[in-house]
Amino acid sequence: LQQQVTPWLIMAAGTAVIGSLQFGYNTGVINAPQNVSIISCQRSLFWVQLSHHWFSEPISQGTLTALWSLSVAIFSVGGMFGSFSVGIFVNRFGRRNSMLMANVLAFIAALLMGFSKMAASYEMLIIGRFIVGLYSGLSTGFVPMYVEEISPTSLRGALGTLHQLGVVIGILVAQVFGIESILGNATLWPLLLGFTLLPSVLQCVLLPLCPESPRYLLINCNEESKLRGTEDVSEDMQEMREESLQMKKEKAVTIPELFRSSVYRQPIFVAIMLHLSQQLSGINAVFYYSTGIFERAGVSQPVYATIGAGVVNTAFTVLFVVERMGRRPLHLIGLMGMAVSAVFLTVLRWMSYVSIAAIFSFVAFFEIGPGPIPWFIVAELFSQGPRPAAIAVAGFCNWSANFLVGMCFQYVEQLCGPFVFIIFTILLLGFFVFTYFKVPETKGRTFDEISAGFRQSATSLHFHFQVSYNLMSWLEV
Ligand code: GLC
Repeated sequence: LQQQVTPWLIMAAGTAVIGSLQFGYNTGVINAPQNVSIISCQRSLFWVQLSHHWFSEPISQGTLTALWSLSVAIFSVGGMFGSFSVGIFVNRFGRRNSMLMANVLAFIAALLMGFSKMAASYEMLIIGRFIVGLYSGLSTGFVPMYVEEISPTSLRGALGTLHQLGVVIGILVAQVFGIESILGNATLWPLLLGFTLLPSVLQCVLLPLCPESPRYLLINCNEESKLRGTEDVSEDMQEMREESLQMKKEKAVTIPELFRSSVYRQPIFVAIMLHLSQQLSGINAVFYYSTGIFERAGVSQPVYATIGAGVVNTAFTVLFVVERMGRRPLHLIGLMGMAVSAVFLTVLRWMSYVSIAAIFSFVAFFEIGPGPIPWFIVAELFSQGPRPAAIAVAGFCNWSANFLVGMCFQYVEQLCGPFVFIIFTILLLGFFVFTYFKVPETKGRTFDEISAGFRQSATSLHFHFQVSYNLMSWLEV
């Protein structure tokens, strides 16, 4: 196994996940400025500062909530457009060059957000958040696709998780930089938002040194490349050649075809549901709004509790990198654990320490399965032909659900009060049942074997296959 981890592979995967880091950073960065509020209605200092140039009187709580929700959610709207466009880029320009090109967006966004205070412009900030969302949406397609395609089968789970690891580290860095004495204050917040420029510069320097995905070169361009060194490529090449032969039997797959063809209908349904389970679990209610949640639970230092959630989040993602159990059981355990934690959070909310513990365990269970798995499993569920279209559709659903939670959480919370997390519990239980009956194990199987499994189940007695298959994967565990 160690032989397969070459410096090239580490360098290529490490450079790609800078894109994931950016996604995480911009997810987490919007939580932090809430902490610099001076009085309770001034939730976000940068909104207050900017809005004074527009409103001669103090802004109402309602307007602030709306502006705040918009600045959170516009990022996901960008993500929806970005993730949906993934297919246009990766087949034409290749995986690596697409990642390189996307950095133009991160540069523009960083400049817009970084100079919005100086220009006293609302629009610049909102447009900047939208553009960095576009970049993040593209990254959530490019990075898992590239990393999965350069990984040998036995390492796909571990390397596939690097995307999520990048995301969680990005969130944590944003939370720490957002501390008032660092960048989360009235003077320095433009730097907090503009910081996103630096990782982009680094990625632009390193990407040209990284190889293109060998699967893309062999299957899409008919070239061979050497990513694994000379000794151990034969098996991987064999697998890619088989996939390539299989591809030639497949027509080029567009998004509408994914839904029309009986072969792809089941895996795309599974992919979409897994992505919905990730977002509708309510995870981003925590990562966008945890400061407020902790405040209402009576936590005296919500900033540090938020950072604590970021630390737990990172620690459990690291644990996942060494996963041995397989995707299915981990996803199931994660969903159930989150559902139980949400019940604790609701029932014992008046005990501030229990609230902290419940949020920490909610986040920990998320990273045991629902966090990392959906991002890389879509690349596993589809062969090279339908992969870009499938990743685009699944990513689009993920970002749409992300938008829904970001936009609605505060309003639903105003309506349901502390029972808001019970909605997530119900959804989580629903996704648990779905995963139990419909999601196959993909660990240790080649891309071709996995799609063959779906082809078989589309043609043979669907139900029998699924039941015996589920049983087999449980026995293997
Ligand atoms: C996943 C989600 C993202 C969330 C993060 C939290 O990457 O896609 O929306 O913020 O996990 O760790």
